[in-house]
Amino acid sequence: MKTEVIVIGAGGHAKVCIELLQAQGDTVACCVGNPDSPDTCVGIPVLKSDDHLSALFNEGYRRAFVAIGANAVRNKLAAKATALGFTLVNAVSPAATVSPSARLGAGVAVMAGAVINAEATIADLCIVNTGATIDHDCILGQAVHIAPQCALAGNVQVGDLSFIGVGSKIIPQIRIGESSMVGAGSVVISNVGSAVTVVGVPAKALNKF
Ligand SMILES: CC(C)(COP(=O)(O)OP(=O)(O)OC[C@H]1O[C@@H](n2cnc3c(N)ncnc32)[C@H](O)[C@@H]1OP(=O)(O)O)[C@@H](O)C(=O)NCCC(=O)NCCS
Repeated sequence: MKTEVIVIGAGGHAKVCIELLQAQGDTVACCVGNPDSPDTCVGIPVLKSDDHLSALFNEGYRRAFVAIGANAVRNKLAAKATALGFTLVNAVSPAATVSPSARLGAGVAVMAGAVINAEATIADLCIVNTGATIDHDCILGQAVHIAPQCALAGNVQVGDLSFIGVGSKIIPQIRIGESSMVGAGSVVISNVGSAVTVVGVPAKALNKF
């Protein structure tokens, strides 16, 4: 079996993830994109349809990483890859700090400068983006994206598929539901339900503005 990684995605987020994979010692064989993708992504050749995945599996590739920022799309393509038999690998920057007592699922990206503190739980397919900090005992559900420079204080929980916009801050103990969105630069001081967008300081539901 081949040990090289297949990267699913070929956009800006994939560029960063490819370099994370290379920095941790993996070789990336190719990207799997769509008909609009560029021919290469940071020098890696791009196959322009996810229909190529089954052929790649038949060629002996077994390790994949889904490098797509959009949570629902990342979740869907990961399900497709694992159904074909691929194992999802993690991409963790050597310049990130991950506590030895933190738990990371599969298919997780942790960018440079990120900090994941004691006994935090990061489920499958999460992105902890550049410089984001996830403090002790936080729980991130499946396919959550914490954008660059966010700060989650201790004991915060974020439900599956939710997105926390760049530079947001969340005070301790806050619960955020599933498939919700926190706008860039928000400060979350009260719980947020599922499938809602909140913005501002303090963060309030967008449709209440
Ligand atoms: C919250 C967000 C998703 C809303 O996007 P949208 O649904 O297209 O909303 P709009 O741009 O139409 O804005 C709607 C209103 O909310 C306000 N608003 C939008 N985002 C806001 C924010 N982050 N903080 C405060 N107000 C905000 C707008 O000013 C607008 O107000 P108005 O109706 O008085 O003019 C988006 O603005 C945002 O913050 N995205 C985060 C992006 C990000 O962090 N990406 C990181 C990638 S790694």
